[in-house]
Amino acid sequence: MAKFTVNGEAREISVPGANPLLWVLRESLALTGTKFGCGIGQCGACTVLLNGQPIRSCQFPVNAAEGAEITTIEGLSPDGAHPVQRAWVEEQVPQCGYCQSGQIMAASALLATTENPTDADIDAAMSGNVCRCGTYGAIRRAIHRAAEMAGDPRGAQPGGRVETGGAGGDR
Ligand code: FES
Ligand code: FES
Repeated sequence: MAKFTVNGEAREISVPGANPLLWVLRESLALTGTKFGCGIGQCGACTVLLNGQPIRSCQFPVNAAEGAEITTIEGLSPDGAHPVQRAWVEEQVPQCGYCQSGQIMAASALLATTENPTDADIDAAMSGNVCRCGTYGAIRRAIHRAAEMAGDPRGAQPGGRVETGGAGGDR
């Protein structure tokens, strides 16, 4: 039995304690926005927030989440209005989309602690999130844009452009 909060809702799950949190989220709670990629902690597709910190849910036993507050992509905002989500749309980041919920969760964790991240900050925070479609340059632009939106609501107006500087190339 594990008790924790997911996206603001108290949950009590009866599964073996060693089960990865990822499978509890996807199979017990039907929160399928969090993806299974590598299953060995190497790709970041399964990233969720545990008490605000990004974790690899494929490698995280559910009993270690006891009492924690977990946020998945479904709980980042009620209506997709989180600055990172809006920036992702405006910068048209996703290609196939498979890695993107993990990317967004990692980016939101970065911006929660670093108001105006530099390119180096972004690369350091996002280096564990792999994108086979190579959307890294767009991700970097979107994080700069989300930072602008979060800092200045006027910059968040539809169609409002914000110079991000140093978009950089894909990696
Ligand atoms: S599926 Fe968890 S890190 Fe790849
Ligand atoms: S958008 Fe396809 S893997 Fe990242």
